[in-house]
Amino acid sequence: MGSSLGQQLAKSHQVIIGSRDSAKAKAVAAAIKGATGADYSTAARNCDSAIIAIPFSAIDLVSSLAYELSGKLVISIINPMKFEKGTAFYGLERGSAAEMLAAKLPRSRVATAFNNITAGFFKKPGGSRLDIVVAADSKETFDETAGIVRSIPNLRPMYAGPLSEAQIVERITPMMLNLAKRNETGSLAIRFVSQKE
Ligand SMILES: NC(=O)c1ccc[n+]([C@@H]2O[C@H](COP(=O)([O-])OP(=O)(O)OC[C@H]3O[C@@H](n4cnc5c(N)ncnc54)[C@H](OP(=O)(O)O)[C@@H]3O)[C@@H](O)[C@H]2O)c1
Repeated sequence: MGSSLGQQLAKSHQVIIGSRDSAKAKAVAAAIKGATGADYSTAARNCDSAIIAIPFSAIDLVSSLAYELSGKLVISIINPMKFEKGTAFYGLERGSAAEMLAAKLPRSRVATAFNNITAGFFKKPGGSRLDIVVAADSKETFDETAGIVRSIPNLRPMYAGPLSEAQIVERITPMMLNLAKRNETGSLAIRFVSQKE
């Protein structure tokens, strides 16, 4: 998901791909025009805003980046999920990955976004408009995140409310995966339809 998002964002932003292994980051970045690669700490220090695209099981590593990410926008795309007999379940009893991330990054502005879209949608740009649900505690944090969402063609940011709404945003994803599987649709993304349209 990180490299797919990076590929789209590199068309309008300077992208740094982060990794635990700087050589791997550089190799991934070499395939993306205009992107560079670095270890997480260097990437966090040199960025203006960060997208955290790591598995939920690795979330603790973000604590080590708190200093480098202080004062910056940090977007969580993390969905805590578990799979049992081919069915996806949400992995937390309460709270959300985004709120856990915010607790680990007390001096960053944390939003959640891109939770309900799969990497495959970024590999085939074009098509119809899709909605990206964004939760953030302040208008400023939402606006910054919305700007990043809008910089990818056909994506519309939708304000879901404060970061506590990430509990709902993240929980939709396992349902979407199960819907796709049970109805044999291929990957699903969200498009809200308004009566005004
Ligand atoms: N895949 C999707 O379509 C999708 C859609 C929406 C949201 N998400 C969310 O986005 C996040 C990333 O998903 P993904 O499918 O891109 O995951 P992934 O390929 O399994 O992992 C992404 C990267 O996380 C890094 N990482 C850091 N610490 C790690 C650790 N302890 N163990 C394993 N990897 C670690 C790895 O990069 P390095 O080896 O380079 O460090 C890995 O390539 C997840 O939280 C997922 O819920 C995914």
